[in-house]
Amino acid sequence: MLLRTLPGTDLRLSVIGFGCWATGGLWWGDDVDDDRSIAAIRRALDLGINWFDTAPLYGHGHADAVLVRALGSRLRHVVLATKVGVRWDGEGAHARSDLSPQHMQADVEASLRRLGVDRIDLLQVHWPCELGTPLTETLGALDELRQAGKVRHIGLCNYSAADLCAAAATIRIDSLQTPYSMLRREFERELGPACRGLQGPHGVGAPLGVLAYEPLCRGLLTGKFNARSTFPASDLRARDDRFQGQRLLRALTLVSRLELVARRQHVPIAALALAWVLRQEGLTAAIAGAKTAAQVDEHVRAAELLDDAPFWAEVQRIVDAYRG
Ligand SMILES: NC(=O)c1ccc[n+]([C@@H]2O[C@H](COP(=O)([O-])OP(=O)(O)OC[C@H]3O[C@@H](n4cnc5c(N)ncnc54)[C@H](OP(=O)(O)O)[C@@H]3O)[C@@H](O)[C@H]2O)c1
Repeated sequence: MLLRTLPGTDLRLSVIGFGCWATGGLWWGDDVDDDRSIAAIRRALDLGINWFDTAPLYGHGHADAVLVRALGSRLRHVVLATKVGVRWDGEGAHARSDLSPQHMQADVEASLRRLGVDRIDLLQVHWPCELGTPLTETLGALDELRQAGKVRHIGLCNYSAADLCAAAATIRIDSLQTPYSMLRREFERELGPACRGLQGPHGVGAPLGVLAYEPLCRGLLTGKFNARSTFPASDLRARDDRFQGQRLLRALTLVSRLELVARRQHVPIAALALAWVLRQEGLTAAIAGAKTAAQVDEHVRAAELLDDAPFWAEVQRIVDAYRG
């Protein structure tokens, strides 16, 4: 597995990270099974995936519990990336970002306890504050957590280019986590250029590490869905308009064209979709979710496709022809 350094840090990350959202169970249908999730995590480790992206929100702590069980003593040898800030009520239908210093401290302490570690390798703000805490107060609290040794590196998720630049001018920010896939490319407009030349707190420009989430568009870029696919109410894709109507049909057209290329290259469509993300300028790694070991087997094959090859021009034409 190819490793890349998260720019400006000593973190060497496999280009594919394991995403633990579905591991938590909630919102991912009725087929999430802890034993299968554990097998998927262990397969990821065996195949060289060395970092895991989790969050308190994922199954309200359950993803962390499963991850700890799966990793066992190998937990000390991987990079743990988690998140901070989101509060939820009851079953979590109402989740909101509370980035007050008090909540962030309590949230990080709870993550440390669940994960059984003294320090989090990469702590990422899950999404911008919805309860009015000024950005400077949030950043101050994050920096204190880093200085106290509870956190090694700080990242942001889902921030606009303007807020990202403002944050990075205040404290050292080490990564941005953002949606990016063949079907979702808004990163290329403002965030991508912003990440490439971010001015740090000392006015020094340096590229920021970018971690792409949802690189398979929640499974749509694997070739397994068709126009008649349906989801149970417990699956967030039942309410995702990318899985409905004309948007779904347009995506399926893209997937069927990709399938021809993938077949010729003898790789799964998922590997082609992941490799496309990993080849984009400024990308450090892609975070792929998996419910089974077989899905992980497909993801790691992306590494075979990272070099320049004639088929990439064809793939780019297919991707550019898609209009979401
Ligand atoms: N920071 C944030 O706000 C944020 C937001 C979203 C995600 N994330 C992170 O990014 C990770 C990845 O995103 P994601 O999980 O939402 O989407 P994703 O990686 O695009 O899709 C993952 C889902 O696709 C299906 N799948 C994956 N590989 C497959 C394969 N080879 N063949 C068939 N189906 C396959 C699986 O679900 P089924 O088997 O049920 O189809 C899997 O759970 C998350 O787990 C999380 O760590 C972060």
